Amino acid sequence: MYILGINAYHADSSAAIFKDGIMIAATEEERFRRVKHWAGFPALAIEFCLKEAGITIDELDHIAIGRDPKAIFWKKVMFALTHPAVGLSTIGGRLKNARQVSSLEDEFMKIFPTADKEKLKAKIHQVEHHRAHLASAFFASPFDEAAVISIDGSGDFTTTMIGIGRGNKIEVIDSVDFPHSVGIFYTAFTQYLGFPYYGDEYKVMGLAPYGEAKYVDRVKKVIRFTDDGLFRLDLSYFNATKSGVISYGDDHIPNVARLYSDKMVAEFGQARWKADELTQYHKDLAASVQRCTEQLIYHLLESLHKRTGLKNVCIAGGVAQNSVANGKITRNTSFTNVYIPSAGHDAGISMGAAIYVYNQILGQARKPAILSAYTGSRFTNEEIEAYLSNRGIAYNRMPDEQLYQAVTEQLVNGGVVGWFTGRAEFGPRALGGRSILADPRRNDVKEILNLKIKRRESFRPFAPSILKEYVDEYFEVNDVVPFMEKVFPIRPEKHAAIPAVTHVDGSGRLQTVDRTVSERYYHLIDTFRQKTGVPILVNTSFNENEPIVNSPEDALECYLRTEMDMLVLENCVISRNF
Ligand SMILES: [Fe+2]
Repeated sequence: MYILGINAYHADSSAAIFKDGIMIAATEEERFRRVKHWAGFPALAIEFCLKEAGITIDELDHIAIGRDPKAIFWKKVMFALTHPAVGLSTIGGRLKNARQVSSLEDEFMKIFPTADKEKLKAKIHQVEHHRAHLASAFFASPFDEAAVISIDGSGDFTTTMIGIGRGNKIEVIDSVDFPHSVGIFYTAFTQYLGFPYYGDEYKVMGLAPYGEAKYVDRVKKVIRFTDDGLFRLDLSYFNATKSGVISYGDDHIPNVARLYSDKMVAEFGQARWKADELTQYHKDLAASVQRCTEQLIYHLLESLHKRTGLKNVCIAGGVAQNSVANGKITRNTSFTNVYIPSAGHDAGISMGAAIYVYNQILGQARKPAILSAYTGSRFTNEEIEAYLSNRGIAYNRMPDEQLYQAVTEQLVNGGVVGWFTGRAEFGPRALGGRSILADPRRNDVKEILNLKIKRRESFRPFAPSILKEYVDEYFEVNDVVPFMEKVFPIRPEKHAAIPAVTHVDGSGRLQTVDRTVSERYYHLIDTFRQKTGVPILVNTSFNENEPIVNSPEDALECYLRTEMDMLVLENCVISRNF
């Protein structure tokens, strides 16, 4: 049985395909379009999924779209009628979007003209946004039973949803509706602090450790933690209800409207512009916003724990990308086990909608947990060699062992290596499939990476990939973190050993590398360990102001326009030293 899931007409549009309940491919459309957060119809991602499955569109049994325009239609209408301040464009824009989703079948026909409408046997299901988020976390988790929570900016007019997952069913127990939203709260301050683009929130998270959380009480005026275990915004601080939050132009790039109101400026002072200096005040405010968000997440989780009595929790939604908050959950709430999928943000909606149909709607039994994010593009050595020869690029094809030696030698000598092997990752983090690597022992790695490749804000940290067996030796918390979804404190005695991946507050956003999941990446890091005694590499995404590279061509172009020292494409090595 084949199920295709899609996230369409929404930021980070994507597709995922399941065969008999096993995910065999999933990818974001941005990787093919080469435009970050691309938000149109994911035609290329769908084509890729069908190719991986070796089937045509006519052979699909079910198509799941992570959106239900009817889900709370009356709630939307009632909201419009009872909130005269709401611009009609908000509701109008949403309904127009809903109409686009309804004509999904027509869209398929337009994009896949060879598909015969008569032959298309797939049943089309529309899965409400947050149920798709919840499914992407719970049905992919290793837990038979868990509390589930989805927290984001907004999707299908809801911003937070909680429930219980048991076996192959999720039961929703409560929700918070737009415009009251943790995502809107965080994004409003992100904009206020001078980071205006869709997806900039992680910059505030990276900035926060440079400040002191001295304004938490003031920030709490803006968002109120309520006794029912949920929260409300003080809407006078926000513009969210007066215009649409996110709009999409003809270029399919998400554009976020200004979310903070003049009252926010009156309370916190003049907003920072992008090019303005980052003062201590901005850093302290970032720290306060981050602290308040963490407290709010723990407030939501603690109440969810009381309502469910369970020890496991599964989390998804854009706010689940807050790896600093995620890393503290087991220390700040009564939950002992946490699962967060590799694509916890909206790209994960495609995968969530499909798995929701498989388990919840069709009632099929659960399949093994998803602990690998490697579901994207892949290329053979032969394809790569043909491409490089065609381009007239000199390369050395090396057997694995020689490759690990050559790469680690380059790293030990201060080199920066583009590492493109196996399948691309699904989700925002590079996990050793499409990564740029460096030596974590060096003090100057941040400068080297920023100078040679990334040209990004100097306050942002770089992350460690660590062999699973050594987590306890380097971190104060010992847990499995397959998707870089949690930040843990690094043991103080290790700070000086791995300065490149130790953030200013002594933390690191780790990926634990499992031999059975990431075989070649594991061997590479292990070779580095044998040479240096350190079982860790600096891992940053393979890109430069663009979506993560997807093909050998993307990788080569990135290598050529930066000062990367070595490029590895499977077993083919390109070096500036050859
Ligand atoms: Fe979402």
